[in-house]
Amino acid sequence: MELTGMEGEGRILDGKATAALVRSEVAGEVERLVERGVRPGLAVVLVGDDPASEVYVRNKDRAATEAGIAVRTLRPEATVSQADLEALVSALGVDESVHGILVQLPLPAHLDAAGVVEAIDPGKDVDGLHPLNVAALAMDRPGLVPCTPAGCIELCDRHGIALEGRHAVVVGRSQLVGKPVAQLLLARHATVTICHSRTHDLGAVVSAGDVVVAAVGRAGLIRGEWIKPGATVLDVGINRGSDGKLRGDVELEAARARAGAITPVPGGVGPMTVAMLLKNTCRAAAAASEPVSSSGRTAGAGT
Ligand code: GUN
Repeated sequence: MELTGMEGEGRILDGKATAALVRSEVAGEVERLVERGVRPGLAVVLVGDDPASEVYVRNKDRAATEAGIAVRTLRPEATVSQADLEALVSALGVDESVHGILVQLPLPAHLDAAGVVEAIDPGKDVDGLHPLNVAALAMDRPGLVPCTPAGCIELCDRHGIALEGRHAVVVGRSQLVGKPVAQLLLARHATVTICHSRTHDLGAVVSAGDVVVAAVGRAGLIRGEWIKPGATVLDVGINRGSDGKLRGDVELEAARARAGAITPVPGGVGPMTVAMLLKNTCRAAAAASEPVSSSGRTAGAGT
């Protein structure tokens, strides 16, 4: 579609400010839990020395500490065996001071991430990656939901962006973002299309979206001219260019000229991921301190 000159600048969805609000709410919830004798605890497991992971883990540690959550970062050797890493994660599962466990991904190539994730106690799986939590999301049952997808929905909710009945196009099909965000959007009554880097005529599919979630990990793959005028664009991509700058999966300025609202990179979805991790940790701590429900599962570590 040609630009008519009538388009304005899409509203910037400020993830940093929204995340700060969520984090202050979490800090209040932490205080209430502490009054009840429970200090939420988060264990972060970082294997190896991936520089991006180092930054993410530092941000998570700082944000959790600020919210009053007791954070422990465990750094097994990069050469740790599968069995030893699974044993470490299993031990955290029975540690009553730990309510949330996060194994930072990616893991070094000799390790099987799926096996490690399955060793996480599902009630403490604040990344929502354990098969039981994946199944819970697929079945609209209570469970822990992955942080980045949850952050996308929270951003929409807090900016009055309607999802019901709208066409949401998710670009990307990862376990961490694409698939779960599609399910969350479906649960909110959006009409959802999932596409990816091998989709034929990606531009035509994206241009049908009232809401576009870009989560492919390829800088600028989503062209500004593809965006439907007035659409909401949530850019999950974090790509570091050769100039050292971070860029999203969407051509920000060109897309902004057409979008109704758009998340920047950095400062959009990224900070929401951290905020939702804190929220999940609080939920897990609250659920662990509540009586067990009749189904035998603690309720409330919820959707
Ligand atoms: N690596 C990049 N993003 C994430 C995330 O949200 N969780 C974990 N565990 N690893 C990641």
